[in-house]
Amino acid sequence: MIVLLEAHVHLQKVVGAALGQLQSGRYGIGGRWTVQAASARVASPSQYYGMEHGPVNAAYQAAEAHYTARNLESRRIYNEAVKHLPGGNTRTVLYYDPFPLATVRAEGARLFDADGHEYVDLLGEYTAGLYGHSEPAIMAAISEALQSGLNFGSHHANEAALARLIKLRFPSIDLVRFTNSGTEATLMALAAARVYTRKNRILVFEGGYHGGAFSFAHGDSPVNAPYKYLVARYNSIESVDAILSDPTNAQDLAAIIVEPMLGSGGGIPGKRLFLDHLRKTANTLGAVLIFDEVMTSRLHSGGGLQSHLDIRPDMTTLGKYIGGGMSFGAFGGTEDIMSLFDPRTGRIAHAGTFNNNVLTMAAGRAGLEEVFTPDAALKLNARGEALRQRLNQIATGTVLKMTGCGSIMVIHFTSTPEEHITCPQDIAGDDKALSDLLHLYLLEHGYYIARRGFIALSLAVTDTDLDGFVKTIQEFLTQHQSLVTIREKAQL
Ligand SMILES: Cc1ncc(COP(=O)(O)O)c(C=O)c1O
Repeated sequence: MIVLLEAHVHLQKVVGAALGQLQSGRYGIGGRWTVQAASARVASPSQYYGMEHGPVNAAYQAAEAHYTARNLESRRIYNEAVKHLPGGNTRTVLYYDPFPLATVRAEGARLFDADGHEYVDLLGEYTAGLYGHSEPAIMAAISEALQSGLNFGSHHANEAALARLIKLRFPSIDLVRFTNSGTEATLMALAAARVYTRKNRILVFEGGYHGGAFSFAHGDSPVNAPYKYLVARYNSIESVDAILSDPTNAQDLAAIIVEPMLGSGGGIPGKRLFLDHLRKTANTLGAVLIFDEVMTSRLHSGGGLQSHLDIRPDMTTLGKYIGGGMSFGAFGGTEDIMSLFDPRTGRIAHAGTFNNNVLTMAAGRAGLEEVFTPDAALKLNARGEALRQRLNQIATGTVLKMTGCGSIMVIHFTSTPEEHITCPQDIAGDDKALSDLLHLYLLEHGYYIARRGFIALSLAVTDTDLDGFVKTIQEFLTQHQSLVTIREKAQL
């Protein structure tokens, strides 16, 4: 059956996608790729559609005016920031038009902004906020650590305690080292793979995100660490095989790094066959298979997608909530690779003033030991699955689709059926104007999610919060029915 979107939605998608690419700097002079936005939407609908271009834009304009009027203090704080930070911002993904909200306080699953509004926090700090904003066990661990003093500049017992807890959840990890961020974890894992294999090339996937210096939203990027990347299509065995059919690529392959589910790339789960194929390919070529589970480590029973799929990578990168809400990253793997970092015998030094920060180690330990037990993980992820199913159910017949796994999910506005979304190319025509409109709508109704539709449930979010969220999405779809409904050709 041929299904078409309502005509104006379709037109806006085409125009928006083309202009959006230009504005994000994806195409420069002569069609060469230049600077790309790693994970932020840089163009607002008002910039790329123009007032006269249809009802979505008109609705967005109205929403933006309303947003501005009710968030004057946030706007003042933002305008002050612009004097000191480029674009008033020090973390690109947090910016959105017309200006971002300023949070003044957070508690449980609630955020409170500078204009006195309260929000249910469904963003969950892009998965790092798993414990919510004031989990008692975490707060107690931090207070206790504070009593013992800061910045020891020495070994301490909580390092090994946290390492042990991580190893229990990830049987593929024999030894682990800590960093300050997921980006650093990627950097060190790739360094280890290159030293270990004495090879250079790294197979990555379009839409993959492994940190600020390892972003493949649109292929390679000038911001990336300068390695020799081979960029394949996510979930495509054919694409992997085609790239590695070049003997130079195959012989020089040091590592394959992959997110078992694309997080920033749209909440797109990797297929078992595809991930299995990567395991076999790495074995055949003597390359290191790295699973980036910085986001996905919280899934299923808290052992990441590797435990669920029963695929053992050689190395794993971690981050986000595992530091209990403090700055954190980790990389670990088999003993023979990780022994490279043994200072008694090893060949690779790994520095980092805050690698064993006392607050991070204490908060991380308390979180895994006392709060995010395997049972708690299973329950949270089951609630996420149920939420995604409910939303897809109420959105039947519309362009709103929700992808993801467990407690991590992403809202898209696309005509592609949810089950056919297997790589970022399948949602390349996403209607960004509708995402932006929904974002402002949700903020107005007290729900905080990412501008790009990303949601990560925290343990503090209640079922009542989720019921309210579903109801609000339902109201949005009803209010904007003419903008979101998919109509069959005969109806147009
Ligand atoms: C899959 C993945 N890897 C790595 C990173 C980088 O982590 P960090 O922001 O702590 O540097 C992220 C961050 O979002 C991520 O999602």
